[in-house]
Amino acid sequence: MNSFIVKGNIVWAETNKELKSAEKGYLVIKDGLSEGVFDSIPEEYMDYELIDAGDNLVVPGLVDLHVHAPQFAFRGTNMDLELMDWLNTYTFPEESKFSDISYADNIYSYFTEAIKKSATTRVVAFSTLHVEGTMCLMDKLEKSGIISYVGKVNMDRNSPDELREESAEASSENTIRWLEECEKRGYRCVKPILTPRFVPSCTDELMEKLSVIRKEWRLPVQSHLSENTGEVAFVKELEPWSQFYGDAYDKFGLFGGEDGCIMAHCVLSGEDEIALMKKNGVFIAHCPESNENLKSGIAPVRKYMEEGLNVGLGSDIAGGTTESIFDAAVDAVKVSKLYWRYVDNSFEPLSFSDAFYLATKGGGAFFGKVGSFEKGYDGDVLILSDEAIPCPRYLSPVERLERFAYLHGDKTGIKGKWVKGERIL
Ligand code: GUN
Ligand code: FE
Repeated sequence: MNSFIVKGNIVWAETNKELKSAEKGYLVIKDGLSEGVFDSIPEEYMDYELIDAGDNLVVPGLVDLHVHAPQFAFRGTNMDLELMDWLNTYTFPEESKFSDISYADNIYSYFTEAIKKSATTRVVAFSTLHVEGTMCLMDKLEKSGIISYVGKVNMDRNSPDELREESAEASSENTIRWLEECEKRGYRCVKPILTPRFVPSCTDELMEKLSVIRKEWRLPVQSHLSENTGEVAFVKELEPWSQFYGDAYDKFGLFGGEDGCIMAHCVLSGEDEIALMKKNGVFIAHCPESNENLKSGIAPVRKYMEEGLNVGLGSDIAGGTTESIFDAAVDAVKVSKLYWRYVDNSFEPLSFSDAFYLATKGGGAFFGKVGSFEKGYDGDVLILSDEAIPCPRYLSPVERLERFAYLHGDKTGIKGKWVKGERIL
């Protein structure tokens, strides 16, 4: 495993309250893990390779907890509809094209290349319901060196024939075939995550089967929750027995648990749902840009943080337009100010430090000790150059990082990227 030292202006989050920094500091990575940040090189590491980042910033890699890889080709278009109509009009027809492996191969190449060049070192992605297409995405992510979870999507109701599995039985069989294929390929970086698309797409019979598969294979699970008013009303209609949306996952053991669970959005979660997310250790993927584009609203993220829930950020392409988690962090700050102004001024808006924490250690916790430079954390490291953003006066490393995020520095400024100590850029 790799051991090295990076010298530069180091910034990282240990809590959401305040960012830590070391101007001209030394980050020591030993066997792929952080040993910590030091003012000078401790004696025991003197023989490690020294990578001098000069005046550049050095920060932990960012984490995207929620993205739809097959939606990459139409991001930034078709922003006129709300969630359910958007899915039916644009998204389902696009995803149905992934039955064609050459189409899938092409789009997934673009997606993987974009993630590789971005500030993201960890990603949790949906593919489509197609097994071959999903393997194609997994092969590409594996090769990129990004550490990821990928989910073959389960859908057996409320979508056109071209994008619906024939029955709960067929969906379950496809899922097992996919899991067996993953085992055969012996991946190092990419792992499967169980992915019922959302309650409207999955019958109770399918949920029941997924619950059995989850237990047998010890899988994490990802889905969507309480995103948009039309969707929440539809869930109530489909599952009248459920106390609240999350209950319709929980009944099947698909809401939290020790193998990990991510629920995207949580814009409209009520008190009972919030309490159960907390009890079950659900991770919330906050996707502020998608929530704007699909007119879903603003998730009460400060409330979730104050209540001690697990929260990270997601790009949610193509509800969101960009893979940049720096942009997601800035959007999280901006929408929290609108929430404070228009919805509830008892919750302080997010600061940049809150948002950077969510982008790194907050989401990183889903992967283990990820997203910080504290001792024992995985060596996910970025070197960032802000040269292209002229600066007429001194700024501290923390101010420079905030400016880098706000002024889209990551479009051109990523000069080095390591994932668990392996250099990939
Ligand atoms: N809910 C179910 N599917 C989707 C999707 O593809 N995108 C978003 N934003 N929400 C969903
Ligand atoms: Fe989504």
